[in-house]
Amino acid sequence: MKSLSVAVAGLGTVGREAVRLLRARRAELRERLGAELVLTAVADRDAAREARALGLPPSVARFRDPFEMIRRADPALCVELLGGLEAPRRLAALVLGRGGVLVTANKRLLAHDWPRLAGAARRSGARLAFEGSVAGGIPILRALELSLSGDRLLGLDAILNGTTNYVLTRCEEGLSAAAALAEAQALGFAERDPSLDLSGGDAAQKLTVLTGLATGGWLAPGSFPVDGIRAVETRDAAFARERLGRAVRLVASLRLSGPPSAPRAEAGVFPTLVPLDHPLASVRRQRNALLIRTASAGDLLFSGEGAGAAPTASAVLADLFVTARDLLGGLPAPRPAPRRLEIVPPDEAVSAFYLRVEAADRPGVLAAVAGALGRERVSIASIHQEPARGRAASVTITTHPSPRALFERARRRILALPAVSRRHCAMRMLA
Ligand SMILES: NC(=O)c1ccc[n+]([C@@H]2O[C@H](COP(=O)([O-])OP(=O)(O)OC[C@H]3O[C@@H](n4cnc5c(N)ncnc54)[C@H](OP(=O)(O)O)[C@@H]3O)[C@@H](O)[C@H]2O)c1
Repeated sequence: MKSLSVAVAGLGTVGREAVRLLRARRAELRERLGAELVLTAVADRDAAREARALGLPPSVARFRDPFEMIRRADPALCVELLGGLEAPRRLAALVLGRGGVLVTANKRLLAHDWPRLAGAARRSGARLAFEGSVAGGIPILRALELSLSGDRLLGLDAILNGTTNYVLTRCEEGLSAAAALAEAQALGFAERDPSLDLSGGDAAQKLTVLTGLATGGWLAPGSFPVDGIRAVETRDAAFARERLGRAVRLVASLRLSGPPSAPRAEAGVFPTLVPLDHPLASVRRQRNALLIRTASAGDLLFSGEGAGAAPTASAVLADLFVTARDLLGGLPAPRPAPRRLEIVPPDEAVSAFYLRVEAADRPGVLAAVAGALGRERVSIASIHQEPARGRAASVTITTHPSPRALFERARRRILALPAVSRRHCAMRMLA
């Protein structure tokens, strides 16, 4: 029976579970593949201790240095689960440069280096698989790449970050955002430093990977708007649910237009008010979900655990299985043509908006706020003033659909009013 060697770099949360699953499912994989996937080497700063804890046999070589592992063990398939950027970047260059197979769950690497990685793989005939980099165990990348290969992707709206979804749904249940975050950290799925999650940066990296796979083009960091949930408070979630019939979610959106050879992308990550009967409104706690809009298959909803050792390791194993099957079958590596992605200027995007500001409770303030919107031709759908707490009153406005540029200008005008505090919350409203 044929066999293919596998080496795993990084025995942390995901790496340990990927090694455990690979060994536990060895017989089933062998049966389905008609060949053996043999773990021959692992690398980690503490490889010896991790290998002992995993009960690896002496035949599995241990390395402290992942680069030495690649050079000495020369595996058919290399799994990169180191985390960070610099070491994975060098490892990817080494493996892809040799025309090898790289399986990674590193969204940061993919989002930063998309054109470089795709170019290196194209030149050398290497294979790059990264199902675990977006939405954990949800098989969304393979669905876009293979299952929907005969269809046309029109766009997507997705909850791609478990920490922010946990915080927002706990806020809906009355908890403060700080308490909800502390809870997520205590449960072990929010990072000790949650800034990349709360700022929307993590969801943006995943949106970049999804867009790259779907279009062949690159949403370079900073080329599209990204806003997180730091300004959202429990009272916004309550107001949204009780008065607007909506739920607050951090939504990564992509709208595609133009021919596939010259795609135009409208992309962004925003705190978003979704109607309560929208599929994303029922996605709670740390779960992820993607609503995919296609030309022929219609709307498709994928949802599940978006991170964690077991779901991500499941995606890593699927990548190993599929790339091993292609290698054994002698299939050439897929080489999607690189595309120049035209990014729709964010200011042109049209949507309805929600704005809550804190204003001094005195006559004329409400009229000044409404006037600022009117001057920018942003039409008000509703306006509500909470009774003053102390000397400040909370004014909440929803608008009719308007170009983002006009809303942003109106927002700046409102925040410049002497009676209005800088602290505020602005959100997009999904139709
Ligand atoms: N955790 C998840 O739920 C999840 C979900 C989806 C995707 N991912 C991605 O999967 C990857 C791995 O995540 P993780 O949570 O498993 O990370 P992790 O727990 O930090 O594990 C990484 C391991 O690699 C080791 N390592 C890092 N750089 C090394 C180097 N240069 N040489 C030798 N060993 C090195 C680390 O050792 P030290 O600790 O000593 O540095 C650690 O043991 C990341 O790219 C992450 O974004 C994770």
